[in-house]
Amino acid sequence: MKPGESLAEHAERRKRLAGKYILDRGNPWFVEVDQLKFEAAKRGRSLVSFANYDYLGLAEHASVKMAAIAAVRTSGVGAQGSRLVGGERRAHGALERGLAKFLGHEACLTLVSGYLANQSVISHLMAHNDLIIYDQFSHNSIRAGNAATKATAIAFRHNDLADLRAALEQNRANSRNCLVVVEGLYSMDGDIPDLPEILRLKAEFNFWLLVDEAHSFGVLGGSGRGLSEHFGTDPREIDLLIGTLSKTLGACGGFVCASEGVVEWLKYTLSGFVYSVGLSPVIAASALAALEILEAEPQRVARLRENSNFFTRLAREAGLNVGVAEGAAVIPVIFPDLESVMGASEALLSAGYYAPPIAHVGVPKNAPRIRFFISCEHEKRDIVKVVQALQDFIQAGGESSAEKVKLIAAQ
Ligand SMILES: Cc1ncc(COP(=O)(O)O)c(C=O)c1O
Repeated sequence: MKPGESLAEHAERRKRLAGKYILDRGNPWFVEVDQLKFEAAKRGRSLVSFANYDYLGLAEHASVKMAAIAAVRTSGVGAQGSRLVGGERRAHGALERGLAKFLGHEACLTLVSGYLANQSVISHLMAHNDLIIYDQFSHNSIRAGNAATKATAIAFRHNDLADLRAALEQNRANSRNCLVVVEGLYSMDGDIPDLPEILRLKAEFNFWLLVDEAHSFGVLGGSGRGLSEHFGTDPREIDLLIGTLSKTLGACGGFVCASEGVVEWLKYTLSGFVYSVGLSPVIAASALAALEILEAEPQRVARLRENSNFFTRLAREAGLNVGVAEGAAVIPVIFPDLESVMGASEALLSAGYYAPPIAHVGVPKNAPRIRFFISCEHEKRDIVKVVQALQDFIQAGGESSAEKVKLIAAQ
């Protein structure tokens, strides 16, 4: 028999490497938020979550729920097939036309997750002799797409466009097609890329541009149309706009917006679309209802921006380290070590706020954080209390903890 560890030993060893000791300290993850809220209500208290990316308060909106119920009645729960061969439903086309029109693109294609959209589109497009240049803080789904191709993939320093230019100068001439990948609003740091400068580089070096607008769709720009609207540029300058239904639209699923010809090609060839079930018609109908509310009520976007700015300002005044956050829906509070981030999250929970720590996964080990997702439905008084609870926690932790946080804030 060949040497090797059992699967159970393998899993145990890998879990330990991934940070089992964090779990042993008390597990703040996989918390049943609905149950937490229910328990709190039973005791006459409230529990407010800052862990959900329901930016515009649409996930629980009555019209969205009604659309879902109506779709269950007419179409059932699942698409029951790949759309190419039996899974196509009226709600799919309606949602895709709605998304394309809202975002200023010719066409759109939905997939069952945003993760799959990135992974599948990138790996489908790029091949041997091609070049992918991506921001170093790109989401795991982008990296998974890069890893699944034979193209050369090079990371540039986060939001450093001089570094992007250097990568293009060094490598563009030796490659066939080139794809540059950035996010509209970075999911762990809450900052945005300089799109106009990226478009200047695009004209100079001739590359395709993919922008993952998972967190910027519904958030940036006066009416939530994302990064292009924020900068006042033509949305079609972004060749591939990847989005998700799971954040602003409060549902689940991903999409890609592009030109008519590109989407038509993807419809017949994109493996994550062709070889996977169509989006649930219930989800498609409810996401469309949410999109219609977003379009009809841009004041939700304005309220989100106001709440986000308010949180960011209070946090900075309290000496908390929000890093480079733009002040748009995603706002991290960065801690110096694991102990303090875990303790802060626990302190928030006792004050009636759920905001789990992010440590080891998707962020540098030396910059664990609590990532606050702001909603237009958050009350100002809750924002004040959350920031106050964090400040109290740091002060109660003694000088050294407060000093450490301030030290990092000053960096
Ligand atoms: C930047 C980014 N892209 C893609 C995704 C994946 O989207 P989904 O959750 O719809 O699969 C996420 C998820 O959080 C994300 O943050």
